Amino acid sequence: MMLDVQALSELDYLAYPKYQSRVIAIASGKGGVGKTNLAVNLGLTLARRNLRVALLDADLGTANADILLGLQPRFHLHHVVTGQKKLPEIIVEAQHGLKVIPGASGLPELADLPERQRHSLLHSLLVLDGTVDLLLIDTGAGVGSNVLQFVRAAGEVLVVTTPEPTAITDAYALIKSISHYQIPITTRVVINNVRKKGEGDIAGQKLAKVAHQFLGKQIELLGVLPYDDMVQRAVRAQTPLVESYPRSPAAVAINTLAEHLWAGTPLTAGTSGGVKEFLKRILSLRVETAF
Ligand SMILES: Nc1ncnc2c1ncn2[C@@H]1O[C@H](COP(=O)(O)OP(=O)(O)OP(=O)(O)O)[C@@H](O)[C@H]1O
Ligand SMILES: [Mg+2]
Repeated sequence: MMLDVQALSELDYLAYPKYQSRVIAIASGKGGVGKTNLAVNLGLTLARRNLRVALLDADLGTANADILLGLQPRFHLHHVVTGQKKLPEIIVEAQHGLKVIPGASGLPELADLPERQRHSLLHSLLVLDGTVDLLLIDTGAGVGSNVLQFVRAAGEVLVVTTPEPTAITDAYALIKSISHYQIPITTRVVINNVRKKGEGDIAGQKLAKVAHQFLGKQIELLGVLPYDDMVQRAVRAQTPLVESYPRSPAAVAINTLAEHLWAGTPLTAGTSGGVKEFLKRILSLRVETAF
């Protein structure tokens, strides 16, 4: 706890950079609904448009964003956590200059890391501030403390679900957890694996209605992605969908989704408080929950 408080004051001493990165977490209630595929392809789509994008693979249980990108990183978050490498040394560049921070599989929950390791891991992300326009965070499934900490600190979240009732129920549970926070979290929903026209919109609208009615929370339906065999073909070939099949229905839909996500946002400045604000929030969580 001491370390966290110290970190806050350390961060306060640092001058604010010219640009503040936007930080967006990608999360879901149910697992396997397409978060990592969305994170990778959305990141590439925005990077191709000359945005400076970093993708943090924060699925500390089963990290795999690098696999979808066909990367074979030598180092990953585990090396940062154990102090063997500094964050800039593990970053690998994918297509269009997308910076990937490879996750480590089998790391314990963030909250369960020894204080010093948790602190040094999170603090190391500070090097990204001002050097990227967007930090995308791919999280693991569910409403575990890792996921919620990342979502809360990011301030913006894309909740991914499929139209199936079980996935929608789990998405609702995640949104419910988010709605308990004092700070507002911009919550957008992406409905993936849609097989019938209109099915995604209906599911999204239902979710938005229930969230509004029972949680008083506004959520935006950001986009609907079709079920597309090319997604799995791209996964098997370890070549990202938007690169290998740019005209496939899912790639086209991700393009539209990226446009909507970035609409109205200046190219060099984000809307949230940047990586620094993200860190302040995530480092202060322990302090808050301790009382
Ligand atoms: N639009 C789609 N069309 C067809 N298959 C898809 C689509 N989106 C994802 N998939 C497939 O669904 C599976 C799970 O995708 P992905 O790994 O992105 O999910 P995830 O939410 O990140 O999973 P986890 O919760 O385990 O991290 C993969 O096999 C992927 O190819
Ligand atoms: Mg995943």
